[in-house]
Order: sequence, then C-alpha cells, then structure tokens
Amino acid sequence: MSESYEVMVPAPVMPGLRVAVLGAGKMGGILLQAFLKNNLLAPEQIFATVQHAERAQALSAQFGVEVTTDNFAAAQQADVILLGVKPTQVPALIEEIKPALTPKKTVLSFAASVKTRSIEEGAGCELAVIRAMPNTPAMLAAGITALCSGRFVSAEQMAVAQKIFQTVGRTVVVDEKHMDAVTGLSGSGPAFLYIIIEALAEAGVNVGLPRDVATLLAAQTTLGSARMVLETGYHPALLKDAVTTPAGCTVDGILELEEGGLRVTLIKAVKRATQRAKELANG
Ligand SMILES: NC(=O)c1ccc[n+]([C@@H]2O[C@H](COP(=O)([O-])OP(=O)(O)OC[C@H]3O[C@@H](n4cnc5c(N)ncnc54)[C@H](OP(=O)(O)O)[C@@H]3O)[C@@H](O)[C@H]2O)c1
Repeated sequence: MSESYEVMVPAPVMPGLRVAVLGAGKMGGILLQAFLKNNLLAPEQIFATVQHAERAQALSAQFGVEVTTDNFAAAQQADVILLGVKPTQVPALIEEIKPALTPKKTVLSFAASVKTRSIEEGAGCELAVIRAMPNTPAMLAAGITALCSGRFVSAEQMAVAQKIFQTVGRTVVVDEKHMDAVTGLSGSGPAFLYIIIEALAEAGVNVGLPRDVATLLAAQTTLGSARMVLETGYHPALLKDAVTTPAGCTVDGILELEEGGLRVTLIKAVKRATQRAKELANG
C-alpha cells in the first residue's frame, strides 16, 4: 500500500511583497539567506543581482531564487529595493534603475555613509528612501541595525524595513544625523570587542589556562555580560559594582584597567571611527 504525503509549505510572513537585493554580496547574501530561513518571503518574491554572471548562477542554484546581473529588471519587479553595493557604486546604480523608480517603491540602502538625500536626488522623484547600518553579527541573527528615514517615508514603509532587518537581529530607528555615530559604535564595534576578547583570552593563557579554555571563558563572559545589560535593564556601572566586592580581586583588576586607560581608549576609538565615517560620506 502506498501513501502520498503532501508537503505543507507555510505562507510567508510578508506575502505579496516583492523584494530586490541589488548587490547580493556578503551583507546582501546574509539578508537573502535570512529572508528564506525566517520564511519572511517565499523564493519567488525575491530578485537579487550581482556584478558577475557566474556568481549570479551559483547564488541562484544555492538559494533557489532569481539572481541575475540585470539591476533594472530586478528593480522594476520589486516593491522594496535593497541596495547592497559599495558606497561609491550607489550613484551609478541609481542612474541605472532610475526609470524603474516611482513614489510607490521603497529604496532601502545599507551602503555605509550614503545619505538618503543623495539617493532621493538621484531618483528625481519623491521616492521613499530608508538608510540602514547593520553589523556583522547579522550572520548569526545577533546583529543590530540602525535605520533612518528620508523625506518621503511613511510609518508603514519604515515598519516593513524594520521587519526586513529583524531577520538578522534587532533594529533601532534613529535620526539620520546619528548614522555616522552608529557606524563608529555598532558598525565598527564588533572589531573593537574582538580585540577585547582576544586580549582577555591572551591574559588567560598568561595566567596558565589552555588557550581554548581561555577563549571560551572570555567570549562567553562577554556574551553573558552583554545579555545582563540588555535583559536586566540595569546601568552597566551597577552591574559592575555587583561584581566588585570590597578589597576583592575585581577592584584590583579595575584599577589596572583605569590606569591603562581602557575606558578613554574605547571612547577615542569610537570617536575616530565616527569621524572616518563622516569623511567617507564627503567622498
Ligand atoms: N559587510 C559589512 O559588515 C557591512 C556592514 C554594514 C554595511 N555594509 C555595506 O554593505 C555594502 C556591501 O558590502 P559587502 O561587505 O557586502 O560587500 P561585497 O561582499 O563586496 O558585496 C558587494 C556586492 O555588490 C555586487 N555588485 C558590484 N557592482 C554591482 C552592480 N553594478 N550591480 C549589481 N551588483 C553589483 C558584487 O557582485 P559580485 O559578487 O559579482 O562581485 C557583490 O556581490 C557596502 O555598501 C557596505 O558599506 C557592509
């Protein structure tokens, strides 16, 4: 006796929405994968592009979505157009897809430093432009993306953009004037924190721990401390005080940190990265 089973494919979270990812590279590819994994969109709702035809073929086979090198065709079919090319390539890309841009579409750019106004002006119509700054923990759906609106964005369009980026972590909406600071803090931040984790692990080795154990202790301690800040809502200083027993070990360590200038060095690092983001925006 043979039985046949029908495979039930659940309806996507955003049925009917057509999304183009123009420049499905590292970050665009992470997003594309997250859309499918979270069933935000069905494969036939996604149109992606890259520069090289052979990469388009490989991506298409990998994800089962339409990937081409034709930006105009992808933009024309989509309601929401994600821009994932390098910042310097954005003006040419906008020029290329300009005839497909109408006030009904949303352009969602995650190119660092590119202002919403420059995209609006390139489009030449009252186009809804949202700018986003994700970070690399997006790969594990543990990213944070800051989003800001251009001049012609409705609350519904921003809500859709948030849903899109929530597939790769948390989102926060900020004023565009803060986007360079976001780049300096959460965009560059993972690199700063990797250095801290690496240094803590090195310290563990220095006091006799095997390297793998030291790295695990350092990384999980960083993760746990971050979760304490996020989930208790307590000020980090209060959480620090709770670890610091009078005349105990931690306070001795903190004295070394203050003498070494860790706090001021981190502040300077974020300030410098923010400054650099501003320079990139000015070309
Ligand atoms: N990576 C991050 O952590 C991060 C974080 C925040 C923001 N961003 C922003 O994300 C953007 C992309 O960065 P990425 O790291 O993902 O770079 P990437 O891996 O180099 O991706 C760029 C993609 O654009 C494609 N491309 C180039 N020219 C194109 C064109 N004319 N038409 C269509 N596709 C084209 C490339 O195609 P091929 O694959 O065929 O070469 C590639 O797939 C940048 O603007 C960056 O500022 C990145």
